[in-house]
Amino acid sequence: MKLIIKDSYEECCKAGAQLFIELINRKKDALIGLATGDTPKGLYKELINANSKWEVDFSNVRSVNLDEYKGLAGDHNQSYRYFMKENLFKGLNIKPENITIADGLAETSAEEKRMREFFAKNNVDMQLLGIGRNGHVGFNEPAEKLQSSFHYTDLTQDTIEANSRMFDNVEDVPKGAYTMGMGDIMRARQIVLLAFGASKVDAMTKLLKDDYVDPMCPATVLKMHPDVTVIIDRELAGLLGL
Ligand code: GLP
Repeated sequence: MKLIIKDSYEECCKAGAQLFIELINRKKDALIGLATGDTPKGLYKELINANSKWEVDFSNVRSVNLDEYKGLAGDHNQSYRYFMKENLFKGLNIKPENITIADGLAETSAEEKRMREFFAKNNVDMQLLGIGRNGHVGFNEPAEKLQSSFHYTDLTQDTIEANSRMFDNVEDVPKGAYTMGMGDIMRARQIVLLAFGASKVDAMTKLLKDDYVDPMCPATVLKMHPDVTVIIDRELAGLLGL
């Protein structure tokens, strides 16, 4: 695992965006795996900025999103499809038909089948990840067994509480979601994980300092991937004693 420590959130986002820009400039039709949450917002701003200056062209780029809430329509303002449109896609020259995101309103087994077929045919070139405070990636929640393929999952109470900051009430947070499985994530050729803030210290300790792979902290599976870049700011590095 390669660790990059930068002075600020902005510097981390620039470094992360640069990896995607370099990939797309050498592979025009790259398939990029995208994440939601507060963490990637700055990286997305960097990509929009680079695209507007024609330092990178998204016209042949394909994207797939890690996850989506079950039960929310794509135009709901807390759906991940809506998040992606507002925070990234509307600022890029990416083609709508090249964007893949699970449909929160689709019937569960049909949607799992559709997305599993997508991942059977397509390999992600570079996967962007944040990390949940309980160590989840995408919505692969801590569990005795982690699921490999794209699937529906119930959300843990911890994740519902962590994500309730985006909703009016904790009761409004969906109780379930679709997510790429750990196998889909591990098949990405390259993985870029960004993390910031004190709430991530426990999970990041397990990822960066322990030597264990623990399904109760799903991000630790990434230790078995040959090409992972972790980008954190100096503040988090300090809290981790790095
Ligand atoms: C959500 C998403 C994850 C994301 C995590 C952290 O639950 N499903 O993909 O990485 O939260 O979010 P944030 O970046 O806001 O801390």
